[in-house]
Amino acid sequence: MSSYRVTPADHIAGEVSVPGDKSISHRAVMFGAIASGTTHVEGFLEGEDCLATMRAVRELGVEVERPAPGEVVVRGAGLRGLSAPSSDLDMGNAGTAMRLFMGLLAAQPFDSVLVGDESLMRRPMERVAKPLREMGARIETSDGRPPVRITGGAALHGIRYAMPVASAQVKSAVLLAGLYAQGETTVEEPAVTRDHTERMLQSFGCEVRARGGVATVHPPTALQAARISVPGDFSSAAFFIVAACIGARAPFTIRGVGVNPTRTGLLEMLALMGADLRLINHRSCGAEPVADIEIRPATLRGVRVPERLVPLAIDEFPAFFIAAACAEGETLVTGAAELRVKESDRIAAMARGLEALGVRNEVLPDGLRVEGGRIGGGTIDSRGDHRIAMSFAIASLRAEAPLEILDVANVATSFPGFARLANTVGLRIEEHA
Ligand code: S3P
Repeated sequence: MSSYRVTPADHIAGEVSVPGDKSISHRAVMFGAIASGTTHVEGFLEGEDCLATMRAVRELGVEVERPAPGEVVVRGAGLRGLSAPSSDLDMGNAGTAMRLFMGLLAAQPFDSVLVGDESLMRRPMERVAKPLREMGARIETSDGRPPVRITGGAALHGIRYAMPVASAQVKSAVLLAGLYAQGETTVEEPAVTRDHTERMLQSFGCEVRARGGVATVHPPTALQAARISVPGDFSSAAFFIVAACIGARAPFTIRGVGVNPTRTGLLEMLALMGADLRLINHRSCGAEPVADIEIRPATLRGVRVPERLVPLAIDEFPAFFIAAACAEGETLVTGAAELRVKESDRIAAMARGLEALGVRNEVLPDGLRVEGGRIGGGTIDSRGDHRIAMSFAIASLRAEAPLEILDVANVATSFPGFARLANTVGLRIEEHA
């Protein structure tokens, strides 16, 4: 089992650029596959998750080329041009891939089966299957979990769906099925979630109305191929944002990061703690806003995180809990039960890891209370969860003794080259196979 041995480092310095956005990379390849014409993607995240999406798209008969690192050319098959896969489609560790494909495949004339790795096979899929069934899809889960079996040939009709959980994956799956439905499809979210699907569908020439947490799609006659430039992943930048907050002695910059406001809740949370963060050099990358993020040294204080920020920072809580451990006083997160059904139960995984390092915390059904203070050394089980592994690696900036982080291979799902990049700015991570 691969692991990180991390020697405490006392500060980080310099600047970094992080790899492409995972959510946007999945969507670029998937939407390109059903567009008419050739879609060009640059800045594509060559992580295991997005490569699983690429393999699945090829299995569905779509030609995909990779002319250079980060460049992908998708020869779109058209809305109705996908063909039946010859075997089960393996989504690996990628929840986004599985859930978005459920929406897309529910509308195809052929049958398909979706499977994944051990972690994905435990994750809830009924949240997607249920609204798709309401649209007329024939779709079965196994006790709510994968394998997901889809029977093709169903005629879908549009629905108005009020989502019980704030999930961009559920919203996206329903909107994708809506591309093929009779009539319009509307999704209402209980709280705003990332809107990459809505933005990117518009880039592919599809009419999407999105306002105030309500998104509506009209079935188009075709999607038009697009040029998609993928910005740096805010969720990957998050590890360096927190690292700079707890370990920079001078301004630290992360360049070219996607700063879509449905993703940047972490900035607000850290600002509430007293962090000094600035977005500079604003520009856009197609439909997505991009900026450089500059972090200056400041003292962090514990906070109570407003629940409205939770969906806007849903992937950043592992890193945020490290900031909380380094803050003065107590930090409280509630309304975050969704963290329990990510790549691991992130409330339990972070609580155990923090405890192993001597950081006092209290597990709540929907969150965590963390008492800031000293961080010791020790062994942490990342439970195969990429974001748990990377979060504890950055905790080494405040740790008093070495850390051993187990089961880190899945860092490659979202952030290939993380340890190498982190070491260029001062961390001391050794990777062991
Ligand atoms: C994602 C949505 C989020 C997030 C995941 C990526 C997406 O999941 O946690 O990493 O690309 O739509 P939920 O929508 O289930 O919260």
